[in-house]
Amino acid sequence: MGLFKWIHEEIKMIRDRDPAIKSNWEVFLYPSFKAVMRYRVAHFLYIRKHYFLARWISQKTARKTGIEIHPGATIGKGLFIDHGHGVVIGETAEIGNNVTMYQGVTLGGTGKEHGKRHPTIEDNVMISAGAKILGSFRVGANSKIGAGSVVLTEVPPNSTVVGVPGRVVKRDNEKIPTDELDQVHFPDPVSNDIENLRIENQSLEKLLTKLLNELEQCQRNHGK
Ligand SMILES: CC(C)(COP(=O)(O)OP(=O)(O)OC[C@H]1O[C@@H](n2cnc3c(N)ncnc32)[C@H](O)[C@@H]1OP(=O)(O)O)[C@@H](O)C(=O)NCCC(=O)NCCS
Repeated sequence: MGLFKWIHEEIKMIRDRDPAIKSNWEVFLYPSFKAVMRYRVAHFLYIRKHYFLARWISQKTARKTGIEIHPGATIGKGLFIDHGHGVVIGETAEIGNNVTMYQGVTLGGTGKEHGKRHPTIEDNVMISAGAKILGSFRVGANSKIGAGSVVLTEVPPNSTVVGVPGRVVKRDNEKIPTDELDQVHFPDPVSNDIENLRIENQSLEKLLTKLLNELEQCQRNHGK
């Protein structure tokens, strides 16, 4: 794609997704615009094994924009990173088309995996401010990750995930009911044990009475 066409698409994409923008020129002030443009150059160098130069561009960009994209990451069209401070995208992260993310997002590893260590984000996913997605699983297309969530497992498509650790609270726009938990009538293991012992004791008493009766009957029969 030519540079002008790419800039034109970036302008359209940012105007579609950020209501705060007032003129096309403002696009050049967006850290997202600078970071994604430089990532494309760094990635081009990375896949040609110019690792040092690729990392140099990525690190300089991180210091300027607050957005650190490893040049090894694979990123589709239409990535928009609003505000941009403190965004980290790891080396083996894969990002589909039309993904939006906000400040403070990490697409990172857990430190326990080797090889593919970072998440795969499918098309049209929205990752809210401060969300951390850690591990080599997939976040399904059209999903939303709530602000401040820590997502550690696969997310099905069309889901909303919130919380720490992240849990799916909506799928296909339908709320997922949480299990009703009775906070008052908790099971009491000690009284359960006592009740079981009482029942056992009762049946032993019955058995003993029966045996004593049988013995008495036997003695009587013998006496006759
Ligand atoms: C997750 C989010 C995108 C909303 O998605 P949604 O699919 O419309 O979900 P809803 O608003 O219907 O919320 C679903 C449930 O999750 C809860 N929830 C929403 N966001 C949450 C969050 N970040 N943390 C914890 N719970 C959250 C809601 O209270 C609701 O709970 P309930 O069912 O008990 O009422 C939105 O809440 C969010 O986090 N936006 C942040 C966007 C952002 O980063 N802005 C920064 C701009 S600078």
